[in-house]
Amino acid sequence: MDGNSLNITAERILQLKEIFPEVFTEDKIDFKRLREVLGDQVNTQKEIYELCWAGKSESRGDIQKQTTATLIPERENSVEFDKAENIFIEGENLEALRILQKSYFGKVKMIYIDPPYNTGNDSFIYPDNFNESQNDYKKRTGLANENGFLEKENLWQKNTRESGRFHSVWLSMMYPRLFLARNLLSENGVIFISIDDNEQENLKLLLNEVFGEENFIVQIIWKKRSTPPNDKIIGTNHDYILAYAKNISSCRLNLKQRTEEQLNRYQNPDNHPKGNWTSGDIMANVKGGRYTASLHFPIRNPNTGEDHYPSNNGNWRFNKDKIQQLLDNNEIYFGDNGKGRPKLKRFFDDVKVGVTYPSIWDFVPLNSEATAEIEEHLGNMNIFDTPKPSGLIKELIKLGSSEDDIVLDFFGGSCTTAQSILELNTEENSNRKFIVVQLAESINESSEAYKNGYNNIAEIGRRRIGKVIEKLNLQPSSKILGFKSYKVDQSNFNIWRSDINGKDEILDQLKLFLKSEKSGSKEENMVVELLLKAGKSLTTKIETVEIDNFKFYYLVAHNICICMHEFNSAIRGRIYDIQPSQVIILNSLFESDEELSNTKLEFEEVGIKLSLI
Ligand SMILES: C[S@@+](CC[C@H](N)C(=O)[O-])C[C@H]1O[C@@H](n2cnc3c(N)ncnc32)[C@H](O)[C@@H]1O
Repeated sequence: MDGNSLNITAERILQLKEIFPEVFTEDKIDFKRLREVLGDQVNTQKEIYELCWAGKSESRGDIQKQTTATLIPERENSVEFDKAENIFIEGENLEALRILQKSYFGKVKMIYIDPPYNTGNDSFIYPDNFNESQNDYKKRTGLANENGFLEKENLWQKNTRESGRFHSVWLSMMYPRLFLARNLLSENGVIFISIDDNEQENLKLLLNEVFGEENFIVQIIWKKRSTPPNDKIIGTNHDYILAYAKNISSCRLNLKQRTEEQLNRYQNPDNHPKGNWTSGDIMANVKGGRYTASLHFPIRNPNTGEDHYPSNNGNWRFNKDKIQQLLDNNEIYFGDNGKGRPKLKRFFDDVKVGVTYPSIWDFVPLNSEATAEIEEHLGNMNIFDTPKPSGLIKELIKLGSSEDDIVLDFFGGSCTTAQSILELNTEENSNRKFIVVQLAESINESSEAYKNGYNNIAEIGRRRIGKVIEKLNLQPSSKILGFKSYKVDQSNFNIWRSDINGKDEILDQLKLFLKSEKSGSKEENMVVELLLKAGKSLTTKIETVEIDNFKFYYLVAHNICICMHEFNSAIRGRIYDIQPSQVIILNSLFESDEELSNTKLEFEEVGIKLSLI
């Protein structure tokens, strides 16, 4: 089995091959032919319209890099691990996105992220050396103090305006993450990104490049403060949320639920058999003087006998027959006194369940509420400048997802997104699931959070999720709530290094490979790694099959058996009973090459694929 994350280049070449099989020759792309096929669409001009920054091609290289890293389950940091479908991942998000590529490709309905805004004061990870090799990058991202927490001083650098590459480093940080995030979205998926004026214009151009300009949905303006700050020429009291579809033609967003006030407009003063109604226009939306004869006629008020024409020489919305039908059914309203101009009775049952969302959001809570929410669950923290209130995130989730969709946030912070999903599921009786990624960024020792016992931000996020679950569980109707916690870590298996060529080193490597698993690797961790590398989701149900004191694992939904322990005749017999499509076995469980090739042949005969680790 390939121990690497998805090979993005190979994946894209496959996609190209599907569309243009004729431009491939002996599995290589014939660019001359591709040009001919594309004809006029090839841009041969030197100057083209595009977003450029220092380091763009290196950050493009980051997209193509694969990883052998995995996710290690942390039961002690989870709630109801075995039943839970929500996922919290502690770790660097670029690495986490790479790990998730195979298992979650096209499976996420909605992504919300709140990345560092690049204010000149924030610190975020970026390769400060643009020629940095993958190994150096990995070493740096793996830097940890004696407690295993990533050291901000070593790893994170403040991106100051004076740095000379102020916007470039931010764009280089965002580009590969957005690219890999897009792969995870389903065809009808949508991404929302919080941003302010520091990088709004760059982010929009970057998203146009990654998602395609045609997939831009809207830029939402969120009113975040009630009063503007005094420190600027104009006090900015709003942020933006950019929304892009994976594919605008497949994207359907939900409607906004009507407010209490809007619902109260529907009444039934005349006890109409069709139920509550409100009055609406019966005039068509045309400019005066251009009426159509079939839609321009008098409506006679049955109460007064008075004839009413459409005003401004316009049209009614319906023809004569339909209007007569509406009159017969008492579906036209002539005012409270019955003597006014005609209006249409719009019945609640006939109108859509909601209204289209506007682009200016002043109906959701302000930033100040977010701080209060964190305090409610965790005590005084004050570690984020702008945590987001759950009221805002819930509204985005209602708009962009439903039922049992997966929602991803890979700049998790204090885990507002997780709280929003959990609460919304309870409020709406839905079963949405979250995947939240957050780095174990260490916390300043002088901070309130540190004094309250927190060492890093991932800990804060997990604790908040736990507290929200505790609170929701107190509700009598509560379902079993929980989350699985994981940590980004090195592979449990020895990885073949192709970058060494010294004889002794190669011999050492060969010796190491007599056993594929690293010593001390835990069985459960290896099974989870195999799940991920076989492209199966983290919530796949794993059954343990026990026979004569031996055991193997069975992934029911995928009909795959995994042998980690032992491979003997009892297990072999049971596998034949099950008839799986694939069996994954540790190489070291075979005593000889002969045993291995015999097993392979036997399995092949009955249609079972054998994969070795
Ligand atoms: C603006 S905060 C998000 C706040 C969040 N929306 C909330 O309401 O709490 C951004 C978070 O992203 C995290 N972060 C930044 N770079 C990261 C990376 N490369 N991998 C994982 N997390 C990262 C930071 O530690 C920070 O907690």
